[in-house]
Amino acid sequence: MATVTEVMILDASQPDPAGIARAAGILKAGGLVAFPTETVYGLGVHALDADAVARLFTAKGRPANDPLIVHVHHFDALAALTTAIPDTARTLASRFWPGPLTMVLQRSAVVPREVTAGLDTVAIRVPAHPIARALITAAAIPIAAPSANLFSRPSPTRADHVLQDLDGRIDLVIDGGPTTVGLESTVIDLTGTIPTILRPGAVTLEMIRMVLPDARLEEEAPSEPAGGMKSPGLLTRHYSPRAPLTLYEGTAGRVIAKMVTDARAAIARGQRVGIVAADEDDLSGASHEALHVIRLGPERDVAALAANLYNALRTLDATAVDLILARTFEDQSGLTVAIHDRLRRAAAGRIVQVGA
Ligand code: TXA
Ligand code: MG
Repeated sequence: MATVTEVMILDASQPDPAGIARAAGILKAGGLVAFPTETVYGLGVHALDADAVARLFTAKGRPANDPLIVHVHHFDALAALTTAIPDTARTLASRFWPGPLTMVLQRSAVVPREVTAGLDTVAIRVPAHPIARALITAAAIPIAAPSANLFSRPSPTRADHVLQDLDGRIDLVIDGGPTTVGLESTVIDLTGTIPTILRPGAVTLEMIRMVLPDARLEEEAPSEPAGGMKSPGLLTRHYSPRAPLTLYEGTAGRVIAKMVTDARAAIARGQRVGIVAADEDDLSGASHEALHVIRLGPERDVAALAANLYNALRTLDATAVDLILARTFEDQSGLTVAIHDRLRRAAAGRIVQVGA
């Protein structure tokens, strides 16, 4: 698609209504508009316009079997898009919407099959970001929006990340500054008997269990029958930086020592090494001009670790490192579960267990 991508800078807390109205007009006409949400930037398209949805899959290079999240302005919009609204959905919406939580529900015939990749279910979210809210309200249509990255690249947390991947392929990017959460929304499946988190995010399992005590993470579920996979897109290789990433799991002290040893060995082989670290990690043993360290924040500040992760991966790609080393964090609960989930996906199997 030969398009000139326009950049529109808007104030994240008080977006200019004229700018929002113009962006909404592009969406209503079937165009592709990237916009900030509180999680990551989304690439929006008219969710009920099957041709526009097809153009979105092309622009992203996304496989057609990976379903999209539909963004709406209010819980009431669910009635038209779904065939049944379970009590669990009402409970979660009253506690967590607007916010970084996506619910999988039974899809109504209004939702084109292109959006749901042929599934009988549809994923829906009410985002909290003022620009996203203003845009959806002004357009007065449901907006399908995957993360605004090329397929297999880390999700964008800044407008310039969107342009790195999609400049010339989409109509407009609304630049509202960096996103606050930095990881994609929690996805929870409410179509079965037990609410099941398919993708961990900032609305954590612990938070959900406060209102739905039997909720669980998908890994804890009994194994699915063959062919019964709920969400095909979740298994594809997502969130991948260009350089291979190796994830070190274990206690901080031993993990950091092992990363230093491995970084030194790689540098001795003539490789350029990137490390994603917490502020306090002592990597001085590997200091070298071929070592590039990105600090996410103090280990205890999990929100900062999450908010800075994808920018760190993109920054390391831009420095042309040959490999990236990253570690897990000691906290195994809350938002750290989502950070570890994304790091494991980025590692695509390259995981080093460092014994205690
Ligand atoms: O935070 C977010 O969720 C961002 C912002 C833009 O809202 N969006 C986002 O979309 O991350 P995307 O397309 O990158 O990820 C959507 C995820 C995929 O893993 C997909 O498989 C899953 O949601 N999903 C979508 N529809 C589904 C469905 N009907 N059943 C199960 N999983 C579904
Ligand atoms: Mg994505």
